[in-house]
Amino acid sequence: MAAGKGTRMKSATPKVLQPVLDRPIIDYVIKNILTIGISPENIGVLVGSGGEQVEGHVNKEFPEVKILWQHEQLGTGHAVRCAREWWQDYENLIVLNGDLPMMTPESLNELISCCEQHDCTVITFNAANPGAYGRIIRENNHVSIIEFKDASLEQIKIREVNAGCYAFRVKALESVIDLITNNNAQKEYYLTDALSLMNSQGFNTGAFAMPEEEMQGVNNQRELAEVSRAMKERIINHWLNEGVRILDINSVYIGSDVTLAPDVVIMPNVQIWGKSQINEGCYIGSGSILNNAVLGRNVKLVAYVFIEDSELKDFAKAGPFCYMREHSCLESHAFAGKFVELKNSHVGENSKVPHLSYMGDATLGHDVNIGAGSITCNYDGVRKHKTRVGDNCFIGSDTMLVAPVEVSDNAATAAGSVITQQVPGNALGVGRARQVNIENWVLRSNLHKTSTSTSTSKPEGDK
Ligand code: UD1
Ligand code: CA
Repeated sequence: MAAGKGTRMKSATPKVLQPVLDRPIIDYVIKNILTIGISPENIGVLVGSGGEQVEGHVNKEFPEVKILWQHEQLGTGHAVRCAREWWQDYENLIVLNGDLPMMTPESLNELISCCEQHDCTVITFNAANPGAYGRIIRENNHVSIIEFKDASLEQIKIREVNAGCYAFRVKALESVIDLITNNNAQKEYYLTDALSLMNSQGFNTGAFAMPEEEMQGVNNQRELAEVSRAMKERIINHWLNEGVRILDINSVYIGSDVTLAPDVVIMPNVQIWGKSQINEGCYIGSGSILNNAVLGRNVKLVAYVFIEDSELKDFAKAGPFCYMREHSCLESHAFAGKFVELKNSHVGENSKVPHLSYMGDATLGHDVNIGAGSITCNYDGVRKHKTRVGDNCFIGSDTMLVAPVEVSDNAATAAGSVITQQVPGNALGVGRARQVNIENWVLRSNLHKTSTSTSTSKPEGDK
């Protein structure tokens, strides 16, 4: 159920698209269901408020998941009724509030197994602060739920509350779904009323409690922040158990789709997001931010390295202060150093771009050295062009490679050159003005006089 407005979030973004770490809430819920082996065609997402946005997102991330519409948000019971055509031919139906990102596959499996025992089972938790949650009433082996706003003072004291996860036998649900009314404090059709209706028709209802951490819903920004912190801790603990070394667990963030290998070392203030994959022995230096980064074995990010959609192969090294983006790649033992930006560029094995360089749309062969300050001039103001530097090339410091251009294998360029034409293999490309020395120019110029007079004369008005 993801059709609600999420009014209490006070945000233009629908609640289920609010991010926990780097993914929307709804993704955790759907991934959880997929993890236990339910195929995506058997998952339906009820959308309504901000529904186009939610639909667009789900279609992109989980194309086989079915979108179901609740055009008017008249309550959770109404939401389930709107989807009836979709669920009525199943034997069992699991209904989950869309705002429960912390639920685990184990709890979901346990809920599913309850379909054997009860016509309806709900997951509950014992709340430290039961707030506005629906209260669980257990009487004569039956379970029912009273919403907070409709509860008596006595019922409000109950600490066991409804988490918003239900397992229904479809036959039982069908026989009560049309009987739910909106005759209550909120004038809403409550799904929770299905339980008392079932009880009165002789169906059986049950409930089991799960730890509160897992059942924490998201209704406002504070709860979103709390859930994000809990998710961050869960992910960090998982990787610590898998042999990753994290120096400062408080300042490190790792997204839920990241994979890490044993003996990865993560220094303070690191963020790793997206589908990043980090292999054995990598060292992620302080201040580094990675998004969809693929790192082979023993890659070293010295410090403050920003990588987006790019790859570093075994023993490659980057940083400090290096920026790699748009499918750049450092082949094994390659190096990109201080104040270096790589965009859509491929750096061959053993090649080095050590200082102050921009390589855009460039392909460098193996064993290339790019001198300090060298850049590709890849953009002519309209289009981007490619640069190719062959194997074993030596690019002198401050070379401007004006693309499209090629420096062929084993060639070199002279420092300070503007290279606009191909440099053939084994040649030296020189593209700079010759140096001219003007004898005694300094003596004839006013240079010394000016500088001494400035240093001895007092500024005007300073008397
Ligand atoms: C609901 C439960 C409450 C439970 C709590 C747990 C009801 C009547 N109450 O209350 O017992 O303790 O969840 O968090 O169900 N939604 C729709 N369409 C609607 C209304 C809601 O799809 O018309 C969806 C929302 O997007 C959300 C979920 O249903 O994912 C729950 O809605 P919410 O408004 O958060 O329900 P609560 O008032 O918290
Ligand atoms: Ca809720």
